[in-house]
Amino acid sequence: MATKAVIKGIGHCVPSKILTNDDLAKIVDTNDEWITQRTGIKERRICSLEETTSTLAFGASQEALTDSGISADELDLVICATVTGDMPFPATSCLIQDKIGAKNAGAFDLGAACAGFVYAVSVGSAMIESGQAKKVLIVGVDTLSKFIDWTDRSTCVLFGDGAGAVVLGAQESDRGVLKTVLLSDGSGSRHISLEVGGSLYPTCDPRSKDRNQHITMAGAEVYRFAVNAMGDACCRVLEEAGMTPEEVDLFVPHQANLRIIDSAAKRLELPPEKVFVNVHKYGNTSGGSVPIALYEAVKEGRLKPGMTVLTVGFGAGLVWGANIIRW
Ligand code: UT7
Repeated sequence: MATKAVIKGIGHCVPSKILTNDDLAKIVDTNDEWITQRTGIKERRICSLEETTSTLAFGASQEALTDSGISADELDLVICATVTGDMPFPATSCLIQDKIGAKNAGAFDLGAACAGFVYAVSVGSAMIESGQAKKVLIVGVDTLSKFIDWTDRSTCVLFGDGAGAVVLGAQESDRGVLKTVLLSDGSGSRHISLEVGGSLYPTCDPRSKDRNQHITMAGAEVYRFAVNAMGDACCRVLEEAGMTPEEVDLFVPHQANLRIIDSAAKRLELPPEKVFVNVHKYGNTSGGSVPIALYEAVKEGRLKPGMTVLTVGFGAGLVWGANIIRW
């Protein structure tokens, strides 16, 4: 039997503050009916000033470590999938490494936006399968509420904050991460971006003041891309694994929009009971989306050891990817 990266534990952390569609209708020209029909979102979690990407990541990591029975000093690697780190540098993974006390681990951030967790699972499992690591903590986390223009109804209704984490461990097993695919198309980079804060428009550069300080998104273009990307990544990863959609026990897609999830499920001909949805509770939490959904699927008893789960993500980059995991 080959060495596989097996999920040893899972955790999550979301802010306690809930922002409902009705709350949003008080600050922008929107309403519950529009948001529900177009996106499936009913409410989302929003960070307080004190809560940051690393504080949410810490909460999720602690829970995942406890669930795994693995102590922080056994970890070889901490990967934090985020595009909203506490600071441009140092990496948020280093802040996590310090807070949890992972004193024997390397640490780096991975920037693949809403596909970040799917990307990080691919990297982490490859590190384990190649023998370079035995125990890897992967955190998917974002705090997009801090970068939203709260006067722009086309974006402010979509996003929320949250973190999810898993501990991967090396094991001779037929379980674990079975197959991954990662894809990208940078020609679509302008469709979702946060222009300032990097080397193009540093915040200290006076020219940056004239640029948009918030997330901008071409919703319709991203929607079209997302519908194709979800189906594309799922079909590819299944084909490479030599599996059919019928062999998938649970589909856990990136939770951005219920209509996008439904179209991917339809393409794969998956019945509703095999599709996990929690976008109504959290909106799009970007890097946190897939691991929070996995966490809730486990807690609700819909994801059990031995089941085959298909995860898929897409987002700013543009990037997309999928994993098949035997839980
Ligand atoms: O992780 C990746 C992140 N991004 C995504 O996944 C987003 C993908 N895109 C989408 O989910 C959808 O494109 C949206 C939900 C963003 C928009 O849905 P849509 O059905 O494509 O709506 P639209 O942009 O075509 O807008 C339709 C109308 C417009 O009014 P007019 O021009 O027809 O009069 C908008 O101004 O809806 C209006 N509108 C709103 N109305 C009420 C846009 N946002 C809102 C709003 N409330 N929040």
